[in-house]
Amino acid sequence: MLKGKHIILGITGSIAAYKSAVLCRLLVSAGAEVKVVMTPLAKQFITPLTMATLSQNPILVDFFNPENGEWNSHVKLGEWADLYLIAPATANTMAKMATGVADNLLLTTYLSARCPVAVAPAMDLDMYAHTATQRNMEQLQRDGVHIIEPGSGFLASGLSGKGRMAEPQDIVEAVKALFGEKKKSLEGKHFIVTAGATIEPIDPVRFISNHSSGKMGYAVAEALAERGARVTLVSGRTALDAPKGVERVDVLSAEEMYEACVERFVASDGAVMCAAVADYTPRSVADEKLKKSDDDLSIELKRTKDIAATLGAEKGDRVLVGFAMETQNEMENAQSKLKRKNFDFIVLNSLREAGAGFRGDTNVVTLIDEAGAEELPLMSKRDVADRIVDKIEKLI
Ligand code: C5P
Repeated sequence: MLKGKHIILGITGSIAAYKSAVLCRLLVSAGAEVKVVMTPLAKQFITPLTMATLSQNPILVDFFNPENGEWNSHVKLGEWADLYLIAPATANTMAKMATGVADNLLLTTYLSARCPVAVAPAMDLDMYAHTATQRNMEQLQRDGVHIIEPGSGFLASGLSGKGRMAEPQDIVEAVKALFGEKKKSLEGKHFIVTAGATIEPIDPVRFISNHSSGKMGYAVAEALAERGARVTLVSGRTALDAPKGVERVDVLSAEEMYEACVERFVASDGAVMCAAVADYTPRSVADEKLKKSDDDLSIELKRTKDIAATLGAEKGDRVLVGFAMETQNEMENAQSKLKRKNFDFIVLNSLREAGAGFRGDTNVVTLIDEAGAEELPLMSKRDVADRIVDKIEKLI
């Protein structure tokens, strides 16, 4: 699966380094060529001999070999790699990466790497939860680093909580996903995704709309398509191109979006309602451009149809996912929407968090279903989309 891929495996000084041996073995067995870079402290946790044997390549720790002066070029290494995977990544190394500190070969290689970078954090639960660590991880995500989330459970400190490095097999799955080798788990399924802003005309030149960029919905459509689903993207106004392999149906108004969705829903396996649909539309649309006068002007608005609620009423065993963007009583409002519209789960966007909301490439969301709520950390909209699709996969 990873045949011919060049992977630098970075190992830092954590007890979880013992799992790097298994990780390295799995990557090599999957066909990857692996070169291992270790921090000086990592050598205390797992021997270079072990890692050199498993990776079939000499281990790189120092900038040069003190015996013969041979230079370990971090620049060449960075150019060679298709992926730089740092597993385990300590709080210390992530803090240095977040600020650009370059005091060992593993870090200079990070700064030189032109390829995607992924880190699998490993540390004690309090270190992981600390504001400083969370802030550094958010910075890394903004810098485009993929975080392979740690699991919860028994920790070397004797405590139990979140901070265990992800299991080697899960890291390999995450690596494959990064290389686009996702499981085609939704093959044969058809989903409708709504995205973007609707446009409600006032007259031939003016309209009512909103700030939705469509990025979240397009990311969901892409994530579904990558797992083999047939996707119809019912799209309001956006500046985005349709993702590869996705059928796009362009609509303008809430009414047009309603028609396009209702028509297709019965034959589908589900729908993800990401669009920011206008709740009101002008009662009548003027045929000619409205002339200004000295008087104020009122436009009478009428309610639009609720597309999600309509699909919810005829859902059957199809999957229906909604979004909520609330500015007050977030949780209660999202939960009542979950019930009212008959969603399987709802994605609550937090408008209060930095990095969440309309136009950006990142989002902070909570996935809410009948059983409870799962808060996700700040992540790219594409990663949020994958988490949504993971949940859909379990429901299908
Ligand atoms: O009620 P509210 O607009 O907050 O609900 C948001 C959810 O309902 C989103 O999933 C949105 O796409 C969907 N919706 C819809 N049709 C409407 C209004 C909202 O599908 N007319």
